[in-house]
Amino acid sequence: MRQNLLRADSSLLSYPIREVVLIGKQLEQLGGFSMVWENIGDPISAGESVPKWMKEIVQKHIAKDETFAYTDSRGFIDARQFVLDNFSSDKICMIDDILFFNGLGEAINKIINNLPREVRVLVPSPTYPSHATAEAMHAGCNFISYSLDPENNWEPDLEEIENKVKYNDHVVAILVINPNNPTGSVYERETLEKIVDIARRYDCFLIFDEIYHHMTFKGVEMTLLHEIIGDVPGLSLKGISKDIPWPGSRCGWVEIYNAEKNDNFRDYMKMILLAKMLEVCSTTLPQVILPHLYAHPEYKVYLASRLSKYEKRADEAFLFFKDIPQIRVNKPKGVFYLVVELLNLPRAQLNATNKAVRLFLDDLLKKEKVAADFQFSYELMASKGVCVVPLTGFGSTINGFRMTLLQEDDVIFTNTLEKIGEAINEYYLA
Ligand SMILES: Cc1ncc(COP(=O)(O)O)c(C=O)c1O
Repeated sequence: MRQNLLRADSSLLSYPIREVVLIGKQLEQLGGFSMVWENIGDPISAGESVPKWMKEIVQKHIAKDETFAYTDSRGFIDARQFVLDNFSSDKICMIDDILFFNGLGEAINKIINNLPREVRVLVPSPTYPSHATAEAMHAGCNFISYSLDPENNWEPDLEEIENKVKYNDHVVAILVINPNNPTGSVYERETLEKIVDIARRYDCFLIFDEIYHHMTFKGVEMTLLHEIIGDVPGLSLKGISKDIPWPGSRCGWVEIYNAEKNDNFRDYMKMILLAKMLEVCSTTLPQVILPHLYAHPEYKVYLASRLSKYEKRADEAFLFFKDIPQIRVNKPKGVFYLVVELLNLPRAQLNATNKAVRLFLDDLLKKEKVAADFQFSYELMASKGVCVVPLTGFGSTINGFRMTLLQEDDVIFTNTLEKIGEAINEYYLA
């Protein structure tokens, strides 16, 4: 090429949840085995079936011509009204403060990329990789983060947040994921109020990714941003990928809170809308259908049965892992993920399924200097046929992995836990 096509910061672009699959697929082929895919938070690809009543709603609406048309750049008006009435608060948000995107992945990128380059968003560590990668690519250097503390149920380190905001006036926003991916924690109201207070005192805005807001286990209190934000400007990010669940619809939205309280924030939000207008609008069909799905009489029962299934899996996995000496686990309070920390993780090998698999892995590890937990996860795939996502892939310095609690089959789930347990024991002894 006449000019280099790669940006100087191209190495910052990564999405380990899917990258690990590319390696897993090659190992599967070389080893002639079927991998158990524990990497992705997609209930449907994990085998959950879509209820008949949902399919009937889709069929009914696909028959209408309006679902084939463009819609408003902000989103289909009935969907925005439904969101405002059911998930938001009209005290701090109006119908035009709700913007639909093609999934939250797009919303996250639009929000972060449209900030001035020198301005930073403080993201959690570990975090959902799209947030960290968007922040890093936007700034052209490593993302900046605050820690979630595994010794305190993965709650955010408030002192660190305050210090990073206080001593770096480029930080304009604090991002919180609640309920949390990857940790499965659901934050205490008091913790969230303190984060709002930091934003208020240092004149920052808040970004709360609340895509899992419906997904808490029995007896766990969920505090939404709109309940505690007061007059601080903020964004709540929600979508239908996890709770409906319809991840393939690519449909998520942003609720803008207190836009009129700060001119600069309001103008920045206008820019996000203009950026959306350049693409005309987000996909119409899921927006038209969304109110009918959430309001259907079967929806609540269906959601409750899914949550009790995940909670049962969380209990089983927690009991299984909690007494293995080399690791630490916190019992999730919601969502469908479990993080297992691998303490003082060595570099080791496991018995690969065959020679071709061993040679492939040796070659890969020679070429790339990977983090210790990536090495463990490659060895786990090569020897036990289980694919998890290394915790350092979530922008964390802590070694470990995230697995899902989505497995439909009881026997396969127990088997998977046993395979992982064996791999951990063998790895630390190797
Ligand atoms: C915390 C979090 N935010 C956003 C997303 C992306 O959602 P969407 O499917 O709407 O792009 C995910 C997907 O796993 C997630 O876990």
